[in-house]
Amino acid sequence: MKVAIFRTGHFNAAHRLYNDEWSAEKNNEVFGICTSPNFHGHNYEMEIKVVGEVDPTTGMVINLKTLKDILKEEIEDRFDHKNLNLDVPEFKDLNPTAENLCIVIWQLMSNRLGKEYEVFVRLYETPRNFVEYPV
Ligand code: NI
Repeated sequence: MKVAIFRTGHFNAAHRLYNDEWSAEKNNEVFGICTSPNFHGHNYEMEIKVVGEVDPTTGMVINLKTLKDILKEEIEDRFDHKNLNLDVPEFKDLNPTAENLCIVIWQLMSNRLGKEYEVFVRLYETPRNFVEYPV
């Protein structure tokens, strides 16, 4: 019997969206204010959905304390109060859009949780702008 379990998390981070193969004009045209060279920040909120079998010996899909600790270690400690472009190796050559950030969070959580769980991530860049992976 599979059940979905959810945990929310939060981090603050700065970023800048740009493509270094494009001119400043083209970057401005595509990314607008988000390509401002001095960076800007967001209060990111995320919802992590973990689907798995209920363990008959515990009655749990995963211990929520374990999930909380994994989310802190893999995502919040890695991204909180960081400049995503400069401080986070995953974005050295990857534009830190909400879409790419959501995929990176999914990869990190999936790798850590292992094959017995299916992971889904919803990431809010603002209360009104959010993305989801996988779809
Ligand atoms: Ni932004």
